[in-house]
Amino acid sequence: MILRQCPLVHPSLSRRPPVQPITWIAPAQRVAFETAGTTAHRLASGSGGWVERLGDDAMISHKNDAALEEMAKGLENWAVEAGWTPARVFTRFLPLKNDERISPALRSGDTSLPLTTVVTEAGIRYGLDFAAGYSHGLFLDQRANRAQLRVWKPKRVLNTFAYTCSFTVVAALQGAETVSVDLSKKSLDRGRQNLALNNLPETKHKFIVEDALDLMPKLERKGERFDVIILDPPTFSRNSNGRLWQVEQHFEDLLNAALEIAMPKCAILLSTNCTKLDPVALERRSRMCAKIKRRAVDYLRIPSLIDFPPGHGASTLWMMVR
Ligand SMILES: C[S@@+](CC[C@H](N)C(=O)[O-])C[C@H]1O[C@@H](n2cnc3c(N)ncnc32)[C@H](O)[C@@H]1O
Repeated sequence: MILRQCPLVHPSLSRRPPVQPITWIAPAQRVAFETAGTTAHRLASGSGGWVERLGDDAMISHKNDAALEEMAKGLENWAVEAGWTPARVFTRFLPLKNDERISPALRSGDTSLPLTTVVTEAGIRYGLDFAAGYSHGLFLDQRANRAQLRVWKPKRVLNTFAYTCSFTVVAALQGAETVSVDLSKKSLDRGRQNLALNNLPETKHKFIVEDALDLMPKLERKGERFDVIILDPPTFSRNSNGRLWQVEQHFEDLLNAALEIAMPKCAILLSTNCTKLDPVALERRSRMCAKIKRRAVDYLRIPSLIDFPPGHGASTLWMMVR
């Protein structure tokens, strides 16, 4: 069987228009973020990459050397205007292929400082690790979805493809029981640390190292049901048995399994970086699943983030089962 594969390219590289100048957030916007308890957000975005503020530090993600130098100069100028200078600047190359991904490098700042740090989002603490690999630990484009989860105050949350469990932490702070599943034990251990960073005991929270597609039928057989399910898979992965996960191919399998463990009223986050699955496609394909499973659904689209221009960040949509 020939698989139709999404390009293994970062979405922000392939979704945006060919030439997009780098645009910086207004200095007042940084103050507004900080007032809201948020120290992790984008500072700039363009076709050559983007700049993130990450607590006391900044990280430049770049497609090529010219873009890196342009954003580094831009950061210096913006810092003067904003009256905020990063303690360290990390840089990260955005390769065309996922298997060429490498950890960020320190460009400037004190080399003796630890490569871990803590940032906040709406007052919630998350640990980052610049030495952990390509991703530091918090996907900033999910900020609005995390905020939405907080508003709903769910009771039982299943966080699939949980990574460092940011959605779990938000749900736990609202008193929910949670199950977090990921192929990576290291990522789930960082999720546990994120709970601890927010003074949350682990009592009501399970962390399961398993393929999400394998786990959901087991949860179904055990009678476990959830009022929020997070589905934020990667475009492509391989589990420990060598089985291929490909979001475009397996999206319906994932959602059908989720619908089997959805409470009568349940919010399911559909999120992907696959450029072929924009919110329109997500809605069309998920409506088919709902029809097959005989579930009535509505959809909630969260307005785009102020620091993410169109074409940057994941495609996301909440499917509201009722
Ligand atoms: C895009 S990240 C998820 C980000 C996360 N939702 C967040 O907002 O922080 C993808 C995660 O999926 C995990 N993963 C990949 N394939 C998987 C699978 N088949 N089952 C469970 N987890 C998987 C990876 O280890 C990685 O942590």
